[in-house]
Amino acid sequence: MLKGKKIILGITGSIAAYKAAFLVRELTKEGAEVKVIMTQDSTEFITPLTLSTLSNNPVLIDWKDASDNWNNHVELGLWADLLLIAPCTANTLAKMNSGICDNLLMATYLSAKCPVAFAPAMDLDMFQHFTTQNNISNLVTHGCHLIDSEEGELASGLVGKGRMAEPENIVQFVQDFFKPQSNQKKKLKNKRILITAGPTYEAIDPVRFIGNRSSGKMGIEIARKASEMGAKVHLVLGPSQETTIDLKDCKVTRVESAEEMFKIVSENIKKLDIGIFSAAVADYRPKNPANQKIKKKGETLDLELIKNPDILKYAGEQKAKFGYKLVGFALETNNEEENAISKLEKKNLDLIVLNSLQDKGAGFSTNTNKISIIDRHNKILKFELKSKAEVAEDILNVIVNEF
Ligand code: PMT
Repeated sequence: MLKGKKIILGITGSIAAYKAAFLVRELTKEGAEVKVIMTQDSTEFITPLTLSTLSNNPVLIDWKDASDNWNNHVELGLWADLLLIAPCTANTLAKMNSGICDNLLMATYLSAKCPVAFAPAMDLDMFQHFTTQNNISNLVTHGCHLIDSEEGELASGLVGKGRMAEPENIVQFVQDFFKPQSNQKKKLKNKRILITAGPTYEAIDPVRFIGNRSSGKMGIEIARKASEMGAKVHLVLGPSQETTIDLKDCKVTRVESAEEMFKIVSENIKKLDIGIFSAAVADYRPKNPANQKIKKKGETLDLELIKNPDILKYAGEQKAKFGYKLVGFALETNNEEENAISKLEKKNLDLIVLNSLQDKGAGFSTNTNKISIIDRHNKILKFELKSKAEVAEDILNVIVNEF
């Protein structure tokens, strides 16, 4: 499956480096050509001889090889179809995120024109540390692919998340990564998809509003990907600062308030195959927005709020009549799965995408998200932290498989 693919495997100084032998063997067995770059520290954990024997290539560690030839990191970076760093230590993660170039692997990483994937490996406290999590999140934001760490017994004897993904899971990632995308393009051909996205602003007076922190990024990425997959997309977008200029194949309707969003959705609901509701809609709005700017007077100000239409619930009620499928979102802070399942049932959805503000890099405004997708049988598919573009692809792939 990997015939002709050129992979640089970067190995850094973690005990998990011993698993790199299995990784090289499996990748080469699948037909890939593998060149290994080791950091000096990693050679304490596994010998270069083992890896050069398994990869059929000399292992590169230093700027110069044994015959004093320069190992050209630029050429290496151009040669590869994928730079895979596994295991990737906390130290290397930090260097990748800040551009520190103190070894051949880092120089190759900084020169690489190919995609980069990394499989973190460390103790659980190091993994949970905010600096490590920030580094991971930032790398994913900038397009690196995370092969998430797994839970289990760690070298320290502690049990938790931090161990490197098993070699077979890394190989699976690489295989999926190189899977031809061409069939995918047509998978939503001519499907009419309506997507809500962004926040809503509920006017208090001509100057002020009640809003929320949604940027619209998640829904915009879903629109972009659905359109690439052949769908006829109508994006109903709240007041977002994001550009939609490149969504030239999508119809984009800009709205401001929940009522405006409701109006556009209800007018278009008859012509739908799939509705994906990612907007963060205000549940309440000021009952009597002032026509003029409210002047500062007393110590307190009372605002009476009334309920907004629940747009998704309305779409759920109309579903049987028009025969479309419905995907909702749930943004939770606690009892996440229970709350999401309750929304799935109450709003008569086919799928619900759960994201939690407990997860670093997930939810509002970030370029990344971490989601679970729950179906009507309460089957839960969990995904790792990814860029919102990749998350959009995951959601649409599940939609293609389920509907
Ligand atoms: O826009 P980003 O910055 O990229 O952030 C993405 C996101 C966090 C906004 C997105 O991933 C997300 O979680 N969207 C749903 C946020 C939300 O309001 O969730 P909720 O649990 O309150 O609502 C449940 C569902 O009902 C949602 O599909 C919502 O669109 C819908 N709803 C809610 C209230 C309402 N009056 N009308 C609705 O349609």
